[in-house]
Amino acid sequence: MTPAERRETLAAVAAEAAVCTRCRLHEGRTRAVPGEGHPDTEVVFVGEAPGMNEDRQGRPFVGRAGDLLVRFLGTIGWRRDDVFITNVVKCRPPDNRDPEPDEIAACRPYLERQLQALDPALIVTLGRHSMGRFIPNARIGQAHGTLHPVDPATGAAAAMVYAMYHPAAALRSTDVERQSYDDAAGIPAALIEARRRRSPGLAANPARSGAPESATR
Ligand code: URA
Repeated sequence: MTPAERRETLAAVAAEAAVCTRCRLHEGRTRAVPGEGHPDTEVVFVGEAPGMNEDRQGRPFVGRAGDLLVRFLGTIGWRRDDVFITNVVKCRPPDNRDPEPDEIAACRPYLERQLQALDPALIVTLGRHSMGRFIPNARIGQAHGTLHPVDPATGAAAAMVYAMYHPAAALRSTDVERQSYDDAAGIPAALIEARRRRSPGLAANPARSGAPESATR
């Protein structure tokens, strides 16, 4: 896919999500939250579902959990615009309840198409529901901070997935917050490893593989 086609696909997904009626979540939405970020990034963060602030603004992670996510990124020298940030479901569940399996399934084609277009080297999952989409049967307490190959059926043709706790969980527990800072510190190494798996020849040659501290192509 060319960079122009990538942008077109992302815009098409956003336009379709804005008027989507595939599941009951459209009934309560103010705005769909398709996701946003650098279209040429190598790293996609996947959260669970929009909350109240996201529903109002149509942008992912703009509330307190988003502020914390931006702080995690800051500790490794990244900004939110360097990566792409989206969610497993694009509309806010009522009262911020967890998304239901049928809602996740209804929204699945949007995430799949985003991942096909972005073709990331690394997916960072935020929370259980997002992790479950990429690492079936894992438990967050064990899987956080670990790196796994991604099934291309998810849409990401050649990616690794790195699991993190949801930032909202880190807001509720200082223990989870501390672990999340540790996990965030592991993201650049996870990206280097994910790049190495994608193209072993290239990653051995830093001059051709891009700076490890950068998240964009
Ligand atoms: N929590 C999420 O999982 N996603 C958002 O966009 C905001 C909060």
